[in-house]
Amino acid sequence: MSESDATTASAANTTAAGASAAARQALLAMPKAELHLHIEGTLEPELALELAQRNGVQLPWNSLDDLRSQYSFENLQSFLDLYYQLMAVLRTADDFRDLMLAYLERASADGVRHAEIFFDPQVHLDNGLDFDMVVDGLLEGLRIGGERYGISGGLILSIVRDKPVESAQQVLDLAERRAEELLGIGLDSAEVGYPPSLFEECFARARSMGLHCVAHAGEEGPADYVTQALDLLHAERIDHGVHAIDSSELTARLAYDRIALTMCPLSNRRLQVVGDLHDLPIRRFLDRGVAVTVNSDDPAYFGGYIGANYQALADIGFSFDELEGFAKNSISHSFADEERKHQLLKELNDWQQDIPAKR
Ligand code: HPA
Ligand code: ZN
Repeated sequence: MSESDATTASAANTTAAGASAAARQALLAMPKAELHLHIEGTLEPELALELAQRNGVQLPWNSLDDLRSQYSFENLQSFLDLYYQLMAVLRTADDFRDLMLAYLERASADGVRHAEIFFDPQVHLDNGLDFDMVVDGLLEGLRIGGERYGISGGLILSIVRDKPVESAQQVLDLAERRAEELLGIGLDSAEVGYPPSLFEECFARARSMGLHCVAHAGEEGPADYVTQALDLLHAERIDHGVHAIDSSELTARLAYDRIALTMCPLSNRRLQVVGDLHDLPIRRFLDRGVAVTVNSDDPAYFGGYIGANYQALADIGFSFDELEGFAKNSISHSFADEERKHQLLKELNDWQQDIPAKR
């Protein structure tokens, strides 16, 4: 089947109600990288209650239904309140290892071949945990998961921007000895009122430690925060970046400098960054030449892992070719070494050769 035949077949299989069942299934098998995933955001409510019981942590919710009733969010802050509260159940290195393994199992089922994973050490330190214990548990999970599922990847230490800057510096003191075991530094949590400029020194220090730099910007904050993340933090990718669309100068810069956006459709809908998935400016970013990737952010909270995010975009009319483009971007904008990128791009290419019949 020629490429144009395949496109026609794809269109024929796509109904007004969304992508075909075969196409939705094929999207799960498509090799991809996940570049925006908070490991604490993979804590499913069932596991949260199990860990609470195992670790003797008191939560205000006694049953799964009770806890589940908390998962409706008005904005970023209302999600963060629950997300930070549930993190208290994570107490041991085994908890962090098991959380990582549970994520990697799900990610593998969704075609993830490489994952760059945020963690929030300041919150765990505030909960009385040891930095090295947290890192050891997560790295052990990554190592076992790497052997089990063939997924490569690493950890991005994320600065919680609404905590004091000194606490970010303290985390960097702890991270310095282990910088070679980390992939990068990130910036997350409540955005408005906590501009990237506050963290210029932290990021300069992280860069001197050899860490890659990324930052959440333009999720609820303005386009100017994205510009600050580029100018002051030297961010190599922008996490979310939705409001970058408000500045044509900025989108031209993102396109020219090949700075990818790690977008998270289901997250943006659930946190009411947009009223509807159709309101996401993804197509406008593509028209302006900005590289978009698709990710899950905090899948246990937002109703789906990465595969569901790709499927949601298929359902609102993104073509198979466009979705393949997002997967390709995810690999080429990852921090994997060139050999691994080459290998994964080949996997994606081999998969594409086999796919027309499944579209
Ligand atoms: N935005 C900001 N902080 C976060 C997020 C997010 O989407 N997820 C976890 N921490
Ligand atoms: Zn995020």
